[in-house]
Amino acid sequence: MSLEDYILQHSDSEPAYLTKISRDTHVKLLNPRMVSGHLQGRVLSMLCKMIQPHKALEIGTFTGYSALCIAEALTDEDVLHTIEIDDELEDLILENFAGSEHGHRIKLHIGNALEIIPTLNEVFDLVFIDADKREYTAYFEAVFPKLRNGGFILADNTLWNGKVVTEAKPNDRQTMEILRFNDLIASDDRIEKVILPLRDGLTIIRKK
Ligand SMILES: C[S@@+](CC[C@H](N)C(=O)[O-])C[C@H]1O[C@@H](n2cnc3c(N)ncnc32)[C@H](O)[C@@H]1O
Repeated sequence: MSLEDYILQHSDSEPAYLTKISRDTHVKLLNPRMVSGHLQGRVLSMLCKMIQPHKALEIGTFTGYSALCIAEALTDEDVLHTIEIDDELEDLILENFAGSEHGHRIKLHIGNALEIIPTLNEVFDLVFIDADKREYTAYFEAVFPKLRNGGFILADNTLWNGKVVTEAKPNDRQTMEILRFNDLIASDDRIEKVILPLRDGLTIIRKK
């Protein structure tokens, strides 16, 4: 048995509606690996239950898996705004939200997050960044003024398949931008931060 199998067997199981989303994503879409899986989903849900956000934001919905993990931690008075640039995913996302008892707490925005974020009139307790790796710094700068003091940003894929250390001279824009983002976060004294080596790296950032 692998360590990952052992961890999953001794953690909460994946809710059935999330197993369905994961399976459908693999059958219907290109790049199904982008979907958060069982372990990452349970970690996200647990972190959100610890943070107890009332206003949350997700950048990069894809098929709605991680949005529903965040929404598990919300009450019916709370809201998760989630932004997805690919309008072809809209029907599938809404279908997936409707298939969960938590979906009604989520507001989907279709469009570019960098254009939509300035229009959101909210102060956020939690932001989950999981969209285009080439724009991580731009997302961070766009959401930071809208994050309350003591609020959290979770940024996914910040170890980028280990390329942050294995590429001597990276020349692809995604690796270069993740490196830039990680350096910027590390040197920013307005925030506390720690990288969890979960799957592809999850950075937890707290605004002081
Ligand atoms: C890694 S996937 C998100 C996975 C999802 N959060 C999950 O865990 O299941 C990244 C998504 O971000 C979307 N995206 C990329 N650039 C974006 C942008 N500028 N604004 C909003 N969404 C964007 C992509 O279309 C893709 O669906």
